[in-house]
Amino acid sequence: MGRYAVLASGSGSNFEALVQGTPDHECALLAGDREGAFCFERARRLGVPSVLVPYRKGLDGKLDRLSAEKDLTRHLVEHHVDLVVLAGFMRLLTPWFVRQWKGRLINIHPALLPRHPGAHGIDDSWASQDPELGVTVHWVDEGMDTGELIEQSRFLRTPDLTREQAEEHLHRLEHELYPRVVTRLLNTLVTQGT
Ligand code: GRF
Repeated sequence: MGRYAVLASGSGSNFEALVQGTPDHECALLAGDREGAFCFERARRLGVPSVLVPYRKGLDGKLDRLSAEKDLTRHLVEHHVDLVVLAGFMRLLTPWFVRQWKGRLINIHPALLPRHPGAHGIDDSWASQDPELGVTVHWVDEGMDTGELIEQSRFLRTPDLTREQAEEHLHRLEHELYPRVVTRLLNTLVTQGT
């Protein structure tokens, strides 16, 4: 059995889908950066330990991302995590953190990368003339949604599709794809004994 952590900032619907869809592995920790976010309530209901890792300003008045991510790493190590799974974590991670977890850090994005990276993936792909919409799981590097692709799920855009239906369909695809990819990666990581 592999152990993974989910990092989330908001609702946590992907987090919940992961916990329910990875019966062979253990979600050892939910880490969030926003106090009161609904993902913490989901963690409580699902019986997954959770931790708040606030990003605070340093003495120079700038956001001290490094301190927050050193804290975060300490929690991940304490929980013996094999894989770090970003699911709606609305922070660009520091190069230091990305290096620490290289090869063990993944993200899901609600568009067909490399098209439409960034915080508005659904809006941007909806506004585009792309014939297909879809979601992407990818390795995380120092850039914004620029890491190597792992797997995508897609569907053809029909003329009668509404924005709301498209968004619902994208989330359904995410909830199906992410647990499947996490299971596969953990199977491999655990077999390799890393
Ligand atoms: C998802 O659409 C994910 O792709 C994006 O942020 C959203 C998070 O939703 N990165 P939730 O918090 O998992 O419900």
